[in-house]
Amino acid sequence: MIEDFKNIRNDRKISQAYLLKEVNFSEEERIKTGIEEFDRVLGSGIVKGSFVLIGGDPGIGKSTLLLQVAGKISRDMKVLYVSGEESAQQIKLRADRILKENQEIYLLCETNIEKILDKIEEIEPNFVIIDSIQAMYTEESVTIPGSVSQVRQTAQKLMEIAKQKGISIFLIGHVTKEGAIAGPKVLEHMVDTVLYFEGDRTQSFRILRAVKNRFGATHEIGVFDMEEDGLVEIRNPSEFILSHRPKDVSGTAVVCSIQGTRPILMEVQSLICKTTFGVPRRMATGFDYNRFILLLAVIEKRLGINLSQFDAYVNVAGGMKIQEPAADLGVIASSLSGYFNVPIPADVCFIGEVGLTGEVKGVSNIDKRVSEAQKMGFSQVFIPEMKTREIKKFENIKVNKIRDIKEIMDFLRGLEK
Ligand code: TYD
Ligand code: MG
Repeated sequence: MIEDFKNIRNDRKISQAYLLKEVNFSEEERIKTGIEEFDRVLGSGIVKGSFVLIGGDPGIGKSTLLLQVAGKISRDMKVLYVSGEESAQQIKLRADRILKENQEIYLLCETNIEKILDKIEEIEPNFVIIDSIQAMYTEESVTIPGSVSQVRQTAQKLMEIAKQKGISIFLIGHVTKEGAIAGPKVLEHMVDTVLYFEGDRTQSFRILRAVKNRFGATHEIGVFDMEEDGLVEIRNPSEFILSHRPKDVSGTAVVCSIQGTRPILMEVQSLICKTTFGVPRRMATGFDYNRFILLLAVIEKRLGINLSQFDAYVNVAGGMKIQEPAADLGVIASSLSGYFNVPIPADVCFIGEVGLTGEVKGVSNIDKRVSEAQKMGFSQVFIPEMKTREIKKFENIKVNKIRDIKEIMDFLRGLEK
């Protein structure tokens, strides 16, 4: 490892310091794939010379996604697909199904990184896909492929060639629950962008998520549906998510979450039921566990509801994740709806952060969120009353500005009658 570092140091040219104001800046050159859900996650296209890692569970669809991307951009530039896992015949079989005629892609089935680098020098592609980084090895290390040092060293070599020649390289990395040691985590600091491809393998819904991006917003997501002949983009995720919503049941509420640059309506489900024995259970999926516990405590203290004999579960439907407090109000509404067994009408949306005294606090992008609800045909939305600024006027949607979660309880009581 130390030897490696020395070599890199010696290779470097004498460095130069620039005066910041004299640095010329032009927007990085980007390659548009035409797959909008993919381009958006990268920050509107693939940056030339970028080094990107795409991680995900085995079988989730990483190879499929990148083969489709390769097919799209191969019309305009040279693409090399390196597979260390599948044979040329296997890839051809899949390509015939999902790419049809767009097959101007160089295919290399190889795991030796030195040979791969030679081929890159020879073919001079603009775009390279390495499937997967765990399958590759360098002759310089005696450890087995997939080990931490192999993964690091092979990735290092690829990064050097990407930066030197301005080639965009995508690494595929498997995430494994047990042995995540040599997985994508090892590489996160090294690459420009880290994407995760997620979803429940038993369902066809897939989410591409940016967790680190030097060239765009993080938390940006792209949504796909895995079908017979490959991945299909879902341009309107709100519509897709809500179309799977159960009707007239208690314990569900719709929230609007900003994912990267885009507002998306999501369904929060709660289940509040009597504890059979012992300590009550609490569980949160797609929402922060500690925040959920805190919101339950706020319900207990501020609304005087005793939950000490109740199990409480919360889940964001469709495998979505909410990483912002703007969903607090929705979590409270769905929990109360579950507790009182009163269904919330399907066209009501909740937006707002909740504080420890039960006060409803302002959130960012309120106009954007209400617009999304309006666009999706919602008739009523609950938002925080914000003193700092007025929100836009909206038509065809009733905007209820509230200060305290007691007002949500009153709303539910009103529905009971
Ligand atoms: P794959 O891209 O091989 O996953 P990964 O590279 O992440 O391991 O996708 C594997 C799964 O996707 C496989 O179980 C079958 C399914 N699939 C489809 O449903 N439709 C398709 O068109 C393709 C190519 C795959
Ligand atoms: Mg694969």
